[in-house]
Formats: sequence, structure tokens, C-alpha cells
Amino acid sequence: MGSPLVNPRQLHEQALKQAFSLDAIPYEQGVSESLAWAPLAFVPHAYLPSYELLDAGDRALCAQFAGLAIAELFIYLEESILVPAVEQALARRGSALGADLRHCLLDLIEEEHKHTEMFWRLLERARPDWYPNRQLRFQRGGKRLATRLMTRHPDTFIAWVWVALLFEELTIHVYRHYRDDAAVEPLFREVHRFHMLDEARHFRIEQHLLKAFWDPAPLALRQLNARLFGLIMARFVSPRLPLKALDLVFERSPHLKVHAPRFRQEILALANNGAYQQAYYSREALPLTFQTLDAYPEMHLLEKILPAYTPRTGTPTPTASAPNTGGF
Ligand SMILES: [Fe+2]
Ligand SMILES: [Fe+2]
Repeated sequence: MGSPLVNPRQLHEQALKQAFSLDAIPYEQGVSESLAWAPLAFVPHAYLPSYELLDAGDRALCAQFAGLAIAELFIYLEESILVPAVEQALARRGSALGADLRHCLLDLIEEEHKHTEMFWRLLERARPDWYPNRQLRFQRGGKRLATRLMTRHPDTFIAWVWVALLFEELTIHVYRHYRDDAAVEPLFREVHRFHMLDEARHFRIEQHLLKAFWDPAPLALRQLNARLFGLIMARFVSPRLPLKALDLVFERSPHLKVHAPRFRQEILALANNGAYQQAYYSREALPLTFQTLDAYPEMHLLEKILPAYTPRTGTPTPTASAPNTGGF
């Protein structure tokens, strides 16, 4: 990649120093139903012209849905893709990675399991009636072919490294909005704050994974995986999940059902909604991921998938100053 990386030993030492226990999170304070469970920037419905038809109660439901869906997303990504891929990568290539990076990956696995537990506890506090058996309601798809390929053969289907990089940085971006939106529910904000503490370091670990798994792969394999990553991202860019929340809104406000076709059409159009794409998958939201994509010409096809991505050529590759966590 040609960019300075943070020494894995230093990253491992940081992990030891920064380790926190779940007891530090004030779950006992519970979740307030009268506050927003997600920042407005991450409520997909708020980008629909029809949002103006919703009253305050409907809007609160949409924000609750968004808060739950984000927590579920991180559980899904970490437990279904990242942890199994890293475990398999360690099993296949562990000895070649060096002891320090191996330690970092073991830290990462342990921390992701902790994050999953953190988010489950949050979901259980927020909606105990919805999560009695810890089944994801909004995020499904653990058996998708791409997921199976990446987690069983992580040294061939290396697109998982990009999935990891992008969503680690998104975690930090999401937290910034939780931090800055005064209307946000405090326990949701606190869980995202703890999550961010580890994720900034994970991004740096994954820069090493890019170097270990992506850089040495033949061009044809990288090009294949760039397409695979594009297919995965196409699902995120065009979210179908907000449709599920619509049913909840219609249950509460049956008079809105007559507008269902309009809502559905507008949700499908989010794939090309500039403001929505800017909030989630833009250079402003994911500066380091986009800068890293720039440095890999085979990734420039992402421009056809991510509406807010235009490759910049001739820019320097990302430096070790990965996600800025200063000031939190
Ligand atoms: Fe995490
Ligand atoms: Fe992570």
C-alpha cells in the first residue's frame, strides 16, 4: 500500500491499555422511549419527501427503528463476517502474519465479541419484547453466498478486508452523530461511544490486513474481489430495511396506508438520494476508506456502486493517522 502503518505491537499495547469492561456501561439506567434512538442523520425515513406526512409519534417510531437497525447491523457484520473471516484467516495464514499482528487479531476478535454483547444488551433494554431469543429482526442474510465465501476462504475472497475497513470507519462516523445530536437517547449514545473506542484501532489493524491479504494477490483476483465488494455495497446503498419500519408506522397511523405506494417508491429511490448517500457513504463520512479506495485503481469501479464516490487519482495514500479519535 506504500503508506506508513502503525506498528502492530503498539496497537496491541493500546488494546491492553484501553480495555474496558461491560460493567462500565450504565445499562441499569434503561432506555428512554421519549428520546431518539438514532441521530436524525441516520433515520432513513427523514430523507423521504413523505416524511412530512408523519406526526411526532410516527417520527419517533422511525428513529427507534433506525437505532435498533444500526445496533443490529454491527452485530451482524461483526459476528457473521468479520470475526469468522479473521478466525479463518488466522488459521490459514497465522504464522506468516507475525506474532504482533496475530496478537492484534486476537484482541480484535475478543473485542468484537464484547461489542456484540454490548449491542444485544442495548437491544434487550430498548425492546425486551422484540429480542427474547436474541434473533435479529432487521438484519438478516447470514447465509448469503458472499458471506459464506469470505468467511470460509478469506485468502481467496479477500473482499472482506474492504468490508471491515469501511464499516469500522462508519462506526466512528455514526458515533460522531450520536455525540453531536442533542436529542439522542443517552444509553444508545454511551454504547456507541464505547464501541468507537475500539474501532479506531481496528481500522489501523485492518490496514495491515489489506497489506497482508490484498496487496500480494494477483490483479485478476483483486479485480474479482473488487466486484464482490461492489455487490455487497450495492445492498447497503439501496436499503430495503426502512420498508419494515413502515409497517410499524402504518399500525400506529392507519390513515397513512393510503400513501404506502408513495413511501415505497421513495424508499427505493434512496439509492440515488444525494443527501442520504452523503450521510452514509461519502468522502465526508468515510474519508480514510475513500482515500484508500483511491490508492487502489482496481477499486475505482466502486464509483458505479457508491453514488457519492468519485475516485481521486494522484492523491497520497492514507497515512497512519487513521481515524481521528482526538477530542472525544
Ligand atoms: Fe465492533
Ligand atoms: Fe471492529
